[in-house]
Amino acid sequence: MIVGIDHIGIAVRNLEERLRFWRDALGLRLAGTESVESEGVRVAFLPAGETRVELLEASRDDSPVAKFIGKRGEGIHHVTFAVASIQPVLDRLKAAGVPLLDETPREGAEGTRVAFLHPAAAGGVLVELVERAGVAARPAGIAPGDAVLLYLRDPQEKIWGVLRERDAAGITIEGMDLASFDAWMSQVERGEDGIVPSLLFFPMSRVERLLLDRGTPSLPALSEGFVRRTGRTVRDVLG
Ligand code: CO
Repeated sequence: MIVGIDHIGIAVRNLEERLRFWRDALGLRLAGTESVESEGVRVAFLPAGETRVELLEASRDDSPVAKFIGKRGEGIHHVTFAVASIQPVLDRLKAAGVPLLDETPREGAEGTRVAFLHPAAAGGVLVELVERAGVAARPAGIAPGDAVLLYLRDPQEKIWGVLRERDAAGITIEGMDLASFDAWMSQVERGEDGIVPSLLFFPMSRVERLLLDRGTPSLPALSEGFVRRTGRTVRDVLG
């Protein structure tokens, strides 16, 4: 079953140059960059709602992205669909005679499992499938101790933190403005002080939405990103 479009991979000659359009002109947020040595590629991630744009710059002359640009120029390189469970989808495609580059999934970034279909399957479009562990199997309820995102009105604010209490009067969260999260994570990573998460109370009249910090098919949860960056859990740091 297809869950959604996970990301769109776009081959570029020069990341910095193309970010002037995707980030500066179009206004997408640059969430990070990463070098994948095995693929000979440098990747910039730009979330766009439930999906994201990935700009791919070759870091070697013999990398697949360099070959792609050599043959076809810059442009859309692949489209990746998120699936709940990847192997059954591959089996079904194979049985239907669809040419596959991977008949069994391989390890992708961030603990994912990925597989590519042959571009001939889709009239020249390289299609990738990705299965992200845990995206489909999370409880819907929100309980104290859960990492959450709180959307507020009057004025509009977004808060990230760990839910401490929730009753008719309002919501208590130990956390911070969402805009400070990246800076806080960097601080923890470097062992510095500065931003201190605090216990925040918001009356129900200001609450628009309370969501689990659970990530999407395309983007891991903030608290999962935190573990990968700092090697510590948010609960451990908050105490
Ligand atoms: Co990709």
